[in-house]
Amino acid sequence: MSKIKVAVAGVGNCASALIQGVEYYKGVEDGANIPGLMHVDFGGYSIEDIEFVAAFEVNREKIGKDLSEAIFTDPNTCSRFADVPKLGVTVSPGPILDGVASYMRSPFKVYGKDRFRDVDVAGVLRDSGAEILINYLPVGSYNATRHYARAALEAGCAFINCIPEFIASDEVWSRRFEEKGLPIAGDDIKSQLGATILHRTLVKLCIDRGVFIDETYQLNIGGNTDFQNMTSEDRLKTKRISKTEAVTSLASYFMPTRIGPSDYVPFLNDKKVCYIYLKGRKFGDLPVKLTVKLEVEDSPNSAGVVIDVIRAVKLALDRGVAGPLISISSYAFKHPPIQVPDSEARMWVEDFISGKRSR
Ligand SMILES: NC(=O)c1ccc[n+]([C@@H]2O[C@H](COP(=O)([O-])OP(=O)(O)OC[C@H]3O[C@@H](n4cnc5c(N)ncnc54)[C@H](O)[C@@H]3O)[C@@H](O)[C@H]2O)c1
Repeated sequence: MSKIKVAVAGVGNCASALIQGVEYYKGVEDGANIPGLMHVDFGGYSIEDIEFVAAFEVNREKIGKDLSEAIFTDPNTCSRFADVPKLGVTVSPGPILDGVASYMRSPFKVYGKDRFRDVDVAGVLRDSGAEILINYLPVGSYNATRHYARAALEAGCAFINCIPEFIASDEVWSRRFEEKGLPIAGDDIKSQLGATILHRTLVKLCIDRGVFIDETYQLNIGGNTDFQNMTSEDRLKTKRISKTEAVTSLASYFMPTRIGPSDYVPFLNDKKVCYIYLKGRKFGDLPVKLTVKLEVEDSPNSAGVVIDVIRAVKLALDRGVAGPLISISSYAFKHPPIQVPDSEARMWVEDFISGKRSR
């Protein structure tokens, strides 16, 4: 199979986990059980078929470095679980736009215009031969996400939107990709075993067992820059919508629900702690209460899922499938064009891989 040429916008913790993950599992044989991947061989593509060819950042200490070094540069705190050899990809200065909140200029070490000039993103994508651009910008990057999405369209790249900006799930944007003959998957990546999937599972369990849910919340804390960036409610609107709809879409009635990032606790670094609470009524209108605490390494939690998404998008490129990829988006993202229970979405992806479903 041919290589899958991938570019990343934002070389933060998630990019670090993804790039390390690809290195960590290089050479794994088909049939091996890799925790967090649907398949080692995904429609004929293995993990080592993924090749990183371009990267964009605003951190002056990451720009100009080889991508293999930039992923371990401060303020990234993702665990180091793989040695990554030089990749031969120099990190480019991306346009800053609204990617950086005023209070994040210092933690993100944003470059000064006297030191770097932002590149023409579409030009760099074209020159690098990238086929897919992954969006890993901070939450709240409304204009910056659209700038990178437009550059992907201009350069003829598919787009994977890992953040809660509505692109794949927006009809106008997804049509733009369809018209250009390019696939798009999104929005807002789900983790392998994260707060969203766990909360969805608990809600589905209650619904399947006839428990009426009276109220539920999901509080999340963490110590990485993703959490630091999310301390301002201004940047959180779409994150709350994305995370809340992922849970409430499973119920056919109104459930008082509060979900979102709740605090930044610096010493947690890349560890995320999530508390889920649910109160309901069962037979005889008698109460049932459930409280769950989940602790995970945050960034690597979605890296395997993204590796599957990359390969699904590449299959779509090979097959000439354009526009929103319904099956992989429903399976792997919190705010897809169509919400279905996770077990159904997984079957859709299997059908997409085998060719029974077109998208
Ligand atoms: N951890 C997960 O599993 C998970 C799940 C769902 C969504 N996400 C989302 O993925 C995104 C990335 O997460 P992360 O943990 O890597 O965050 P991060 O803070 O570690 O990385 C974001 C990076 O983007 C860079 N950046 C800011 N503006 C930019 C611009 N205009 N152009 C290029 N780079 C820019 C920053 O310097 C930083 O390095 C976040 O929006 C996060 O909410 C992550």
